[in-house]
Amino acid sequence: MNKLWRHVAGVALAGSATLACANFPDKPVTIVVPFAAGGPTDKIARDLAEALRKPLGQTVIIDNTIGAGGTIGAAKVARAAPDGYTLLVSHIGMATAPALYRKLSYKVPEDFETLGLINEAPSVLIGKPGLAANNFAELRQWIAANGTKVNLANAGLGSASHLCGLMFQSALKTTMTPVPYKGTAPAMTDLIGGQVDLMCEQAVNAVPQIEGKKVKVYGITSLQRLPLPALKDAPTLSEAGLKDFNVQVWHGLYAPKGTPPAVLAKLNAALRTALKDPELIKREEALGLTVVTDERLDPASHRKFVETEKTRWAKVIKDAGEYAD
Ligand code: MLT
Repeated sequence: MNKLWRHVAGVALAGSATLACANFPDKPVTIVVPFAAGGPTDKIARDLAEALRKPLGQTVIIDNTIGAGGTIGAAKVARAAPDGYTLLVSHIGMATAPALYRKLSYKVPEDFETLGLINEAPSVLIGKPGLAANNFAELRQWIAANGTKVNLANAGLGSASHLCGLMFQSALKTTMTPVPYKGTAPAMTDLIGGQVDLMCEQAVNAVPQIEGKKVKVYGITSLQRLPLPALKDAPTLSEAGLKDFNVQVWHGLYAPKGTPPAVLAKLNAALRTALKDPELIKREEALGLTVVTDERLDPASHRKFVETEKTRWAKVIKDAGEYAD
């Protein structure tokens, strides 16, 4: 009799799982953002949440779980129920955390399902309003004269701002003093207030401050200039003297490992629809973002992309001797 009941229970369980997938999503979906509200990752996630509402037919809630360069939020999703209702928006931090954090509680990409790349996000080098340098050549001299007295803000070990700052210091062959925050939104407040000197920040968050003349802009961190009014005179750092300097941030969408394929397919389809939303494209392009429409939206290609970035950044981080126990 036991065998029969076990069989019946198995069939019933399988049936309810299939039903759950078929009805997905039948309640709100949560996107974990591993950085403070108001920063670039948060802005991009909220933009995406708005565009996902229609294709998912459900509310999409943002949960800012912050700290440790974005790894606390990522760990929360790695441990979440693999049912499609808890997702993660993160960026190159997904690829860099394994090299930086020796006691990381999750594996990348093994502990996640990659749903697709969202965008490419250029960054800019910005300074406090009272900084005594009005272009990159003057900034270079100011940095040489001040060395470790220069406070370089970032969003914690492994954040895009931290990695860009790492590359910037090694390109200048100098060491500045890192000032970590739980996101570049609080860092921006201190930069505008003059409590810190410099920051590598994603254009999506820097453009409004540059337009408002609240910070100084010294250069674009990728190899192409940005066709935005606020940045029309901003050179790339490569043009300005740091030959071939190139830091490009990207954002992706992730679910916990083991999320059923039928649910992943629905989420990926909703992501593709959201990224075609003309309102989203207009908002993102006005902030310098390039919305992904190519094969990197495919989960398998995105997974391969994360693995390639993980290898690339591991070398940069090893060469810089950066890590956290
Ligand atoms: C980063 O620096 O990693 C992010 O831009 C931080 C943030 O989104 O606040």
